[in-house]
Amino acid sequence: MSDRERSIGVFDSGIGGLTVMHALMAALPAERLIYFGDTARVPYGPKSRDTVTRFSIENVELLTRHDVKAIVVACNTATAFALPALRDRFELPIVGVIEPGARAAAAATTNRRVGVIGTHGTIGSGAYREALTALAPDVTVVSRPCPLFVALAEEGWTDHPAARLVAEEYLAPFRIDGVDALILGCTHYPLLKGVIGETLGSSVRLIDSAEETAREVGALLARRDLARRGDPVSEHRFLVSDLPEQFLRVGQRFLGGRIGGVEVARAGAA
Ligand code: DGL
Repeated sequence: MSDRERSIGVFDSGIGGLTVMHALMAALPAERLIYFGDTARVPYGPKSRDTVTRFSIENVELLTRHDVKAIVVACNTATAFALPALRDRFELPIVGVIEPGARAAAAATTNRRVGVIGTHGTIGSGAYREALTALAPDVTVVSRPCPLFVALAEEGWTDHPAARLVAEEYLAPFRIDGVDALILGCTHYPLLKGVIGETLGSSVRLIDSAEETAREVGALLARRDLARRGDPVSEHRFLVSDLPEQFLRVGQRFLGGRIGGVEVARAGAA
């Protein structure tokens, strides 16, 4: 198979990366995608850098066995902790979600005050702050973890009074900080865009890194002459390390589309 015909490997700790998968499918319809959700070891958000890095290496090893031409780390926590280690270890091009999100936020803010929300791991790593400071040193960054948003999104409680209560508790301090852009630095948060937007008001732009990440993947494929030139692909492959039925049920909501089938695959010792 020619390099252009090979698939792009996408991985996440579970179902959240399907929001990135959705953006990749829309932006790069001719590409074959193979998604791995590490549902046996989710969540990554409360775990250590070492553990998330080890899991991420094993996930990329699994995807390379499917002869992929590039990897998308469709998980903020895995990108925050493991992207440099993955790039050191593997030769194939690897794109994460943090730099694209930071770039979109730096372009969107006019008052140069940007908020970031994510898991404990992502916020604790300081990866968004670092990326934003490198891109736009004049931007002030305020970040806070919002771990309960993950459970609310998975429960489908995206328009529920509990979601409003939690959003008010987590996000009220951003009103005092006066940010005019907020990075949704976790794969699950785009599902709560409605409630987050209502809580902060229309003066705060919500930045979802998925689309910007898909653009970056497209540019990378073009640069390396790796873009597939065939007809649009209608079925992609989905692999998980546990509970395929649950992935299928909840995942279609995250993907915003049909998942034809789910296979079970093991990464590392999962
Ligand atoms: N996918 C993770 C992220 O974007 C959220 C879920 C988890 O904690 O594993 O950070």
